[in-house]
Amino acid sequence: MEDKELLNTLKEYVKALEEFGVSFLTLPDEIEFAKNNNKSIITEENDKTLKKKINRMEGDKSKKELLNNLRNKLGNCKRCKLHKERNNIVFGEGNPNAKLMFIGEGPGRDEDIQGRPFVGRAGKLLDKMIMAMGLKREDVYIANVVKCRPPNNRNPEEDEVAICSPFLIKQIEIINPTVIISLGAVSAQFLLNTKVNITRLRGNIHRFKNSNLVATYHPAYLLRNPSKKKNAWEDLKIAMKLLGLPIPGKK
Ligand code: URA
Repeated sequence: MEDKELLNTLKEYVKALEEFGVSFLTLPDEIEFAKNNNKSIITEENDKTLKKKINRMEGDKSKKELLNNLRNKLGNCKRCKLHKERNNIVFGEGNPNAKLMFIGEGPGRDEDIQGRPFVGRAGKLLDKMIMAMGLKREDVYIANVVKCRPPNNRNPEEDEVAICSPFLIKQIEIINPTVIISLGAVSAQFLLNTKVNITRLRGNIHRFKNSNLVATYHPAYLLRNPSKKKNAWEDLKIAMKLLGLPIPGKK
């Protein structure tokens, strides 16, 4: 990496950490960390071994192919009423071999326009959360409980979740991440099949199928309540520990 690029990465990384309340760093470890920040955590070697394993497990179909097949099955979905006002289906995106998956609630206005998850203001904050973890957006997979925008950003209704969520569950089965981070109450309560408040669900390790599940606040909520970012950072650190990622500011 060029010195200038390294400096910019380091600046962005420190800014993201500051935003989540990290007040000291143990240099020079973090310089190494920032260098790694520009690399995928999935090394080429790792990826090859993973692909071989997956091919064995899934009759020679890669996760990418399986996700493409699932997207095709979803088609121009009209299974629930959300299709009436949507512009685009937001299927989800990211690394099919990701060890970490983020799951939000449903697309907002920007996502509906672009057909991509978390690209609006909340998405920018999610990008910072990913960066603070020492990862890149390309390392992770991002999806939502429902794939079409609920009008006026209301919460998805029970029938909409019931119809759409089998697609999310299949995505999780294909990706089979080590850790799922659920963003906000709708996602955590759906995945954990509970009505318990997000404030009580966060801060713990739960399970969903083969994955650990860490519930945290939705980035849109964090934009409205910045004082909760330090709690979100505690949740992200739980996920980082489960993923074997180094925790900045910790010797
Ligand atoms: N909020 C969500 O829950 N998901 C998105 O994709 C964007 C905003």
